[in-house]
Amino acid sequence: MSRIVYVNGEFLPEAEAKISVFDRGFLFADGVYEVTSVLGGKLIDFEGHRARLHRSLTELEIPAPVGDEELLSIHRELVERNGIEEGMVYMQVTRGAADRDFIYPADPKPSLVLFTQVMSLTESPKAEKGLNIVSIEDQRWARRDIKTVQLLYPSMGKMAAKAAGADDAWMVEEGAVTEGTSNNAYIVTRDGKIVTRQLSNAILHGITRKAVLRFAREAQMVVEERAFTIEEAQDAAEAFVTSATTFVMPVVSIDGVTLGDGTPGPVTRRLREIYLDEAQKLGV
Ligand code: PDD
Repeated sequence: MSRIVYVNGEFLPEAEAKISVFDRGFLFADGVYEVTSVLGGKLIDFEGHRARLHRSLTELEIPAPVGDEELLSIHRELVERNGIEEGMVYMQVTRGAADRDFIYPADPKPSLVLFTQVMSLTESPKAEKGLNIVSIEDQRWARRDIKTVQLLYPSMGKMAAKAAGADDAWMVEEGAVTEGTSNNAYIVTRDGKIVTRQLSNAILHGITRKAVLRFAREAQMVVEERAFTIEEAQDAAEAFVTSATTFVMPVVSIDGVTLGDGTPGPVTRRLREIYLDEAQKLGV
């Protein structure tokens, strides 16, 4: 079935949508993106994604292609035109087309592209079974706080996980876990503390992370924002990951070591439930 996508001011059937071969997103990965989940036809935590988009654009000195209100109305129109009840909206902003030059163009005309994807997010077999994780070295660039479209290393990491018969990979730098290939990583210690790496340029500042930590603290859970090792994770009571498309997703093994009884733990299950309840209240 053909989707309606949005490209630089136009809603078009996907086969008719075009971007220049000179677009710097294509030539230099000179672009940023956001993925916003859709539940019950509503955008979840749009405000968080909007704010992070602005941060990414500012860090790269890319002008915003449209104002905030227009951005929201484009998202909404796309959800409506494609009849999305559950799934996601992908939005990408690049510095736009210019003759190939490492130097940024003086007068950039940013490109804005959005498309939708139908996905089953709430009813997920993986949320029941949990993920098997392998660890890999973190070989990405050092500005992981900017949500750029350079996703080749995460893609290689997911391929390495697949080749090892696992579901995903956690990346390790100087002995400590940074994050998952497309999600933030957490453990629950044996005394019930939720541990996840502190914010810095080493990780993406997840929008789901922010919401989940807030909900956890509101539910009187203890949260520690600090680095942890794979060994500590293997010895933990539970582990999980968060992202816009997985919400709170349990992890049941790390590098072949089973956590607990090998099924999603109670803290993880509770956080997933709280997130699903609370996040839907934030839908717009
Ligand atoms: N990925 N860390 C990385 C490296 C990510 O790519 C993502 C999201 C996250 C979680 O961020 P958020 O909670 O804001 O989704 C953390 C998206 C979903 C993707 O690339 O598909």
